[in-house]
Amino acid sequence: MDKEKLIELLEDMSMEEKIDQLLQVCCYYYEKEGVITGPENAAGFSEEEVQNAGSVLGGGGAKLLRRIQENYMKKQPHHIPLLFMADVINGYRTIFPIPLAQGATFNPEIVEKAAAISAKESAAAGLHVTFSPMVDLVRDARWGRVMESAGEDAFLNSCFSKAMVEGYQGKGELKEKGRIAACVKHFAGYGAPIAGRDYNTVELSERTLREDYLPAYKAGVDAGSATVMTSFNTLDRVPSTGNKKLLRDILRGEMGFDGVIISDWAAIEELIHHGMAGDKKEAAALAIEAGVDIDMMTTCYCGNLKKLIEENEIDEALINEAALRILELKNRLGLFENPYKDADEAEEAELFLCEEHRKTAKDMAIESMVLLKNDNILPLQKEGQSIAFIGPHVNNKWISGVWSIFARIDENVTVEEGIRNLGIKDVNFARGCGFIDPDSGIDTFHDNQNVSEDSKNADQLLEEALQNAKRADVVVMPIGEISIQSGEASSRASIDIPKVQMDLFEKIYEVNQNIVVVLFNGRPLTIKDLSEKAKAVLEVWLPGTEGGNAIADVLFGNANPSGRLSMSFPYSVGQIPVYYSEFHTGRPYSDEQKDVKYLSKYLDIPNTPLYPFGYGLSYTDFEISQVTLDKSELQNGESLEASVTVKNAGRFTGKEVVQMYIQDKVGSVSRPVRQLKGFRKIELQPGEERKVIFTITEDMLKFYDINMNFTSESGEFTVYIGSDSRTQNKQDFVLV
Ligand code: BGC
Repeated sequence: MDKEKLIELLEDMSMEEKIDQLLQVCCYYYEKEGVITGPENAAGFSEEEVQNAGSVLGGGGAKLLRRIQENYMKKQPHHIPLLFMADVINGYRTIFPIPLAQGATFNPEIVEKAAAISAKESAAAGLHVTFSPMVDLVRDARWGRVMESAGEDAFLNSCFSKAMVEGYQGKGELKEKGRIAACVKHFAGYGAPIAGRDYNTVELSERTLREDYLPAYKAGVDAGSATVMTSFNTLDRVPSTGNKKLLRDILRGEMGFDGVIISDWAAIEELIHHGMAGDKKEAAALAIEAGVDIDMMTTCYCGNLKKLIEENEIDEALINEAALRILELKNRLGLFENPYKDADEAEEAELFLCEEHRKTAKDMAIESMVLLKNDNILPLQKEGQSIAFIGPHVNNKWISGVWSIFARIDENVTVEEGIRNLGIKDVNFARGCGFIDPDSGIDTFHDNQNVSEDSKNADQLLEEALQNAKRADVVVMPIGEISIQSGEASSRASIDIPKVQMDLFEKIYEVNQNIVVVLFNGRPLTIKDLSEKAKAVLEVWLPGTEGGNAIADVLFGNANPSGRLSMSFPYSVGQIPVYYSEFHTGRPYSDEQKDVKYLSKYLDIPNTPLYPFGYGLSYTDFEISQVTLDKSELQNGESLEASVTVKNAGRFTGKEVVQMYIQDKVGSVSRPVRQLKGFRKIELQPGEERKVIFTITEDMLKFYDINMNFTSESGEFTVYIGSDSRTQNKQDFVLV
């Protein structure tokens, strides 16, 4: 349909019908199927409102969604189909590692490929839009939702934002088979809640917001994301969902976004709790004025917009504008021609967990694993070593993260299954203890995750584990957080490994010190003691469907770990927020000045994290040559080449992530100590070497100057190239 026809259609619609288009309700209201992902008390819809809503969230499955669409279309006077949206965050049925782990791959190609697979499976399951990518910059590991982000860095986040949008949407038309629309979220700054407490206030200077937080949203918008979701938080004390400056001036005006803006779950009504609106009517007025097109899960719009127009409180044009955008999206998806799009049970059967999808899930899980420590104990020997696997995650199926809402947990491969699939003989498995401590807050939640103990009591579990450990050459301990300890509404004040598991670790350590820790988690954890004592630590995050197979491959050397941390691991929780791209301060600390008092430091812990951004080991050794520049001066409008030669000096084939950071030495405002500006993941055979060239342009040196102009300033810069954010391999150049 062309735009004129859409406008004609809009003109044919009554005001009520237009307002109906602006409402999104949960699939659960139709057939008691679908996943409820937010508080329901905000709702209170009439049956009529549910039946007339323009879009539905949280449901998936060709059969279900076809049936709902069919019933809807029978009653729809204008032949306007429903739009089906849901959270396909790290996969629909084939589940990939959580997004924080995807960030650790430092491999946008595989992330794009996984998003394309998720789109195919989702489209076959009848979905039209996914609420992904979540591109909030995250620097506080207490916040449970860091697991949904690609991490602490603006550049890395932007690369993944683009890759995911292009993966879901493709580069052609949205109506193409196997494509779904993306939704960049949560606009804006949701990743910086004070003290890491979910939904909490956000305080960011405009400069920090623009320089660090906005680029990833912009990258998603530039990549063509069809929709954007508002965030729950306030920014400069204004909640995003009622923030005209943010949505109309910055998102629509500056970034040029002309797609659909959707509120987060009940976020319009929450303007009341924020104290910005007195009632639902005021909340509706604020949100529609700010530019929110779809009201997710409240009666604010459907119950008040008509009254607001009749009372001349808002302009009717606002409704027309929002309804037209929604119709345009439905049209772009080809729903007027075919309301079912790709929904097809036969396709589902063919695509879900097919060999190709599983392979990508496994490849990505392998690429996301970060080897944090290795005292020559990994890889393990397939024969001639007796190995005891001890820890509650040994046979844990819940390894796909809380946002894998359409996953079938029994399809996930556990550690034990992975090891057995590899045919390793001299191994045994014991849980050793339960997952969580009684005071974890977890058992009060509604989730049906398996957190209960098995039939053995705690003493029996421990005894079995100790016996196994005593007899083994090596103990592998799969321990860490369970999946419902991270995600939405799962902030933690302590980010330790649950005490019950650390107690197990200590007891095992008393009888066998050859310990390899396989760490499961949705966020950086505080693991200082553990990493001192264990001989190796392999970070595996929440690795998804193929987790166990990928872990087995890495432990036994079929694959070489190549993940690099996308978020710093703090030394202790008191250090948070800790991130590499910090500022010097007026009293910078360095290790040579240990005894100087009046410096920016802690008395009891170092300034630097336990493991920094970009860090990760390999089974092989890489040597990176000195940085060379093709010239030492960069003229405006020209570019400069910085290069290194990387050599695989070890015995294994492996992938190195070559990272380029730039520091602007003097600016009209204080500049970060360094910022990631480029990275390249390359694979090298033993003995092989390759030159890696980065092009530096003036654009890369721009920032918000003292007058808030986005510009570069001439002067001295340092370029660092190395294997993590601490590298001192550098050269200076001048921007003329
Ligand atoms: C979350 C969003 C999600 C939405 C729909 C909200 O609670 O903040 O990220 O997309 O629910 O499930």
